[in-house]
Amino acid sequence: MPGHSHFFAFENAEAARGDKSESANFLSLHGNWQFRFTNDITDAPADTFMTPGYDDSAWGSMPVPGVWELNGYGTPVYVNVGYAWKGESKGEPPLAPDKNNHVGDYRYKVLIPSSWMGKDIVAYFGSATSNMQLWVNGHKVGYGEDGKLAQEYDITRYVTPGKEATVALRIHRWCDGTYLEDQDYFRFSGLARESFLYARPKNRIDDIRVDANLDDSYTDGILSVEADIKGAGALTLVLSDESGKIVAEAEVNNARGKVRKTFEIANPQKWTAETPNLYRLTATLSRGGEVQEVIPLNVGFRRVEVKGARLLVNGQPVLIKGVDRHELDPDGGYVVSTKRMLQDIKLMKEHNINAVRTSHYPNDPRWYDLCDRYGIYVTAEANIESHGMGYEERTLAKDPAYATAHLERNQRHVQQLRNHPSIIVWSLGNEAGYGPNFEKAYSWIKANDPTRPVQYERAGLDGMTDIHCPMYYPYGHCERYASRSDIVKPLIQCEYAHAMGNSLGGFKEYWDVIRRYPAYQGGYIWDFVDQSVHWKNDRGQDIYGYDGDFADYLHGDNNFCDNGLISPDRVPNPHAAEVRRVQQSIHTSLAPGGLEIYNENFFCPLDNVSLHWTLLRNGVPVRCGSVATLDVAPQATVRLPLDWGATDSSAEWLLNVDYRLREAEPLLDAGYSVASQQLALTDPVNFHKGIAKGDASAVDDIDGERYEFSGNGFCVSVDRATGMVNSYKLNGRELLASGGAIRPNFWRANTDNDRGAGLHKRYAVWRNPRLELQSVEKATVNGQPAVISVFGLPEVDGTLTLTYSVDASGALTVCQALEAGEKSGVPPMLRFGLRMPVTESHSQLEYYGRGPGENYIDRQAAADLGIYRQTVAEQLYAYIRPQETGTRTDMRWWRVLDSRGCGLEFTSPAPFSASALNYSQDELDGQHRHTPEVPQAGYTELCVDAMQSGLACENSWGALPLPQYQLPYAARSFTVTLAPVSK
Ligand code: GAL
Ligand code: MG
Repeated sequence: MPGHSHFFAFENAEAARGDKSESANFLSLHGNWQFRFTNDITDAPADTFMTPGYDDSAWGSMPVPGVWELNGYGTPVYVNVGYAWKGESKGEPPLAPDKNNHVGDYRYKVLIPSSWMGKDIVAYFGSATSNMQLWVNGHKVGYGEDGKLAQEYDITRYVTPGKEATVALRIHRWCDGTYLEDQDYFRFSGLARESFLYARPKNRIDDIRVDANLDDSYTDGILSVEADIKGAGALTLVLSDESGKIVAEAEVNNARGKVRKTFEIANPQKWTAETPNLYRLTATLSRGGEVQEVIPLNVGFRRVEVKGARLLVNGQPVLIKGVDRHELDPDGGYVVSTKRMLQDIKLMKEHNINAVRTSHYPNDPRWYDLCDRYGIYVTAEANIESHGMGYEERTLAKDPAYATAHLERNQRHVQQLRNHPSIIVWSLGNEAGYGPNFEKAYSWIKANDPTRPVQYERAGLDGMTDIHCPMYYPYGHCERYASRSDIVKPLIQCEYAHAMGNSLGGFKEYWDVIRRYPAYQGGYIWDFVDQSVHWKNDRGQDIYGYDGDFADYLHGDNNFCDNGLISPDRVPNPHAAEVRRVQQSIHTSLAPGGLEIYNENFFCPLDNVSLHWTLLRNGVPVRCGSVATLDVAPQATVRLPLDWGATDSSAEWLLNVDYRLREAEPLLDAGYSVASQQLALTDPVNFHKGIAKGDASAVDDIDGERYEFSGNGFCVSVDRATGMVNSYKLNGRELLASGGAIRPNFWRANTDNDRGAGLHKRYAVWRNPRLELQSVEKATVNGQPAVISVFGLPEVDGTLTLTYSVDASGALTVCQALEAGEKSGVPPMLRFGLRMPVTESHSQLEYYGRGPGENYIDRQAAADLGIYRQTVAEQLYAYIRPQETGTRTDMRWWRVLDSRGCGLEFTSPAPFSASALNYSQDELDGQHRHTPEVPQAGYTELCVDAMQSGLACENSWGALPLPQYQLPYAARSFTVTLAPVSK
C-alpha cells in the first residue's frame, strides 16, 4: 500500500480514547508462528507452504516479534563497515550472495472477526528485515523492502470475515535492499516492532497530514489539516487542549477526495522539548449521522527554521544536547518494548539530553509518540547506509539502479512520520556517499514538507543539506567553522564525543566551544546505548557479546558496537554523569554578596526548582540552606544574594549548589537534581604529611640484603637487589601482599580509546620499562636519613631516582624523580606514579578528593570534591571489555583501610590521583575479552599518581587527549607519603 501518515482509525469516539489494542478494528498477529529455516537461499523449498492445508507440523517456531539470531536460528553478527557476508562471499549490487542467505518461512492462522464484514482489511508489519513476501490463504499478496518502515498490504479480497485465514511469509536475510542497510550495528533478521491486522470502513480518511505551525511572530498557531477521503462522508475536525477543552472545530459536509482546513489558534501553548504541550486533533468521518471512524492525533504547535546560520525552534536558537540512538535491546535485538523506550526517554531526561537522532533509520512509531509527549527533539533519519560501497565511484548514491530506492525510502519515511511535532529535522541517511540520488530525495522532501530543515552528513558543507552536520570534528575545526562570518548553515555535529568504554574525556571542552559560538548549536553524542547482547562465553558465564563471540563470524570489529552512555541493560556508564553535568541548563557563578544564576533554557523559567546549598570546610559540610523559589527567566542571568557565612584561609572552603525540582515533572520525581555545581571559595590547602625536621627514623643495613627503617611498631625495608620497598610492617602485620613491592608505574590498562589510537603498541615501551638498578644507598636528604635507589631506563634513555624516608611514626615518604635523556621519539606515558599490592583485607576507602564516581583529569565536571567512603569492591566498573577503571583525581588525602579502620593514609604536596582495585592492572589490560572473565588478584592493588593521562573522546580511532591532559616524556617528580592509620 502507498505510504501514509502513521495513525490508527478507531470505530468510535470512545474507543479512540483508549489503546488501539482494545479496538474492534485491531487484531494482533503477535505470538509463536510456525517457522522453517533454510540456510542458503538456493535450497529454499519451492513448495506450497503458503497454502492453508499445508502440513507444517514438522516446523519449528518463531516468536513474532522476534529476530532469528536470538531465537535459535543463525548467529548474531556485528559488523561495522561492509556487509554481513564480508570475508565469506563477494556481493555485487543488486545481488546478495546465496551462501548463508538464510530464508525464514512463517505460517500463522488467525480468525478474521465477523464484524469486519464489508470493511477493508490491512496487514501491517512494522519491521521486516531484510524483506518479506506475503501470502494469505495461499494467494500472493505482495513484496516489500526497507526493514525499518512499516509495510502494509491490502488483504481484503483474500480473507472472509468469520473464517480462519492462513498468513504465510517468506523473509530473506539479505536482498538488494541490504546494500542500503549497512549500518554499524548488529545484523539481525526477522520481524520486529508491531505486526497486526486492522479493518477500515469503505468510506474513510485514507490519509491525514497535519502541520501545526506558528505565525511570523511565533505567537499564534496555524493548523493546516489535509485529509484524503476515500468514498465520501462528513468530516469533523475537533482540536482540544490537554484538559479536553475544545479549541477549534470544523465540519466539511460532503467531504470527498482531498480536503483542506486551516485553523488559526490565538496564542496556543507551544510545543518544545522543554514544554511538550500537545493538543489532540480528532478527525471523524460519518455518513448519515453514523460514525465510520475516528482518528486521534497528537498535535504540537511549533515552528522550525534555519535562519542566519541558526537552527531556530519557535524563534529560539536552541541548543542540541543530543544523542544518537540505535534501537536495540540486549535480549530482543531489534525488538524493543515500549517499556524500554520509556526507560530510554527517562534516562535522557535524567541526563539533560534533549535531542535524539534516530541513527540510522526510522524507529518504531511508538518512539516518536513518546518524544512528542515527553519532549525530545528528533532528527529523523531514513534507512539508507551503503557504507560498504565506499564514497567514490561505486557509491549507490550515484547508481541510477538505486535511485528509486533512495527516493522511496525517504518519501515513505516522511509520509509515515510527518505528523510528529518532535521531528524537527529530516536526515536523508548516513554514510552512503553523495550523489544525485540524495539530491533528488532532498528536493522531494523540501517540496513536500517545507516545514523542516533537511540534513545529510555526506553532503558536506556545500551539498544539499540545510545544517552543517559533520561527524567527529575536533575542537579546532568546530571553532574555526563557527567563528566564520560568511556561513549560512549552523554547525550541529551528527555524531561526536565517541563514548566507547571509559571515555568522554574532554567533553566539557566541546561545550565550552558550543557555548562560545552562536553558530555552533550542539550535537549528537555517539551513542546512547552499548549495543551488545546477552550471551554466554565458553565457560558458560554471562557476558555482553560482541564481534568474536559468535560462532565463526569474525569481522575484527570486536566491541566497536559498545560506544554508549548507557550499558545494554540501561545502567548508566560512569561517563553518563559527565554528560548530565555538562549539559545541565543552570549555571552558577560567584558574585559579590551571593551568586549569579544563568538559566540556559530557552522557554522555561526556573520556577519549578529550589536551590539547596552546602558549605564545606576541608570537605566536611558545616552549613547548609535553601532558597525555595527562584525567579530567572529563560536565557536570563539573575544575581541572588546569599550569605553562607565566613570562610578563612586556614582551610579549603567549597560551596555546593544543587537545583532540585519542587514538583514532579513527567518522568522526574520531585526533588530530582536537575543541576548541581561546586564553587571554590578559597584556594586548596596542602594536606601533605611529609616528614618533620628531626623526625626521621634511622636506617639499618641488614646483612647487605636490605635497608631497614624501624621504630615503635613499624618496620619498612628496601630490598637492595631491586631498590624497592618490599616490606612494610605495622605492629607486626605485613601490609604488602606477598612478593609485592612499591613499584614505579607509567602504564594503565588500556582504555578502548587508548587501543583505538594504537597506544598499546605506540606507547608500549612504558608498559614495563626495563629498570636497571644502578645504586641503592643510604643517604642524608634535608638532614634526614634516607635510602636512594637510582635506576637507568635504557629503552628511553632516562634515569629514575626513588628516595625513601620514614618518620618516627612509621610514615614512609617516597619521592620518585624522572630525568629524561636526549633520546628523541620517546612516546608520552599513560601515568606517572607508583603501584603496590596490599593485602586483601584492605577493603575500605576514605578520601578527600573528587567523587563519588570515577573521574580523570579530563573528565571532572561531574565529580565534586568531598569526603567519600567507599569499598574497594565497588571501584571496578564492569566495562564490557576490561580496561582502566576506578580512578579518582584531585586527592587531598586518601585512606586505604581494613574493616577495623587500620591501614594507610596517602598525601602528597599536590593533589594526586589514586585507585584501589581487587584486580591487577595487567589482568585488565587486554588479557580478557569480557570483565566477568578477569580473575581477582587476591590482593588490593593500589595506584597513586602525580597524574594519569586523560581519556579523550574526539573519536576512538586515533584521537589523543588534549595536550594539557597528556604526559609527554620529560623530567617529572612525584612525592607521596604513606602514613599509618590506626583506629
Ligand atoms: C560513524 C557511523 C556510526 C558508527 C560510528 C563509530 O562513522 O556513522 O554508525 O559507526 O562512526 O562508532
Ligand atoms: Mg557506517
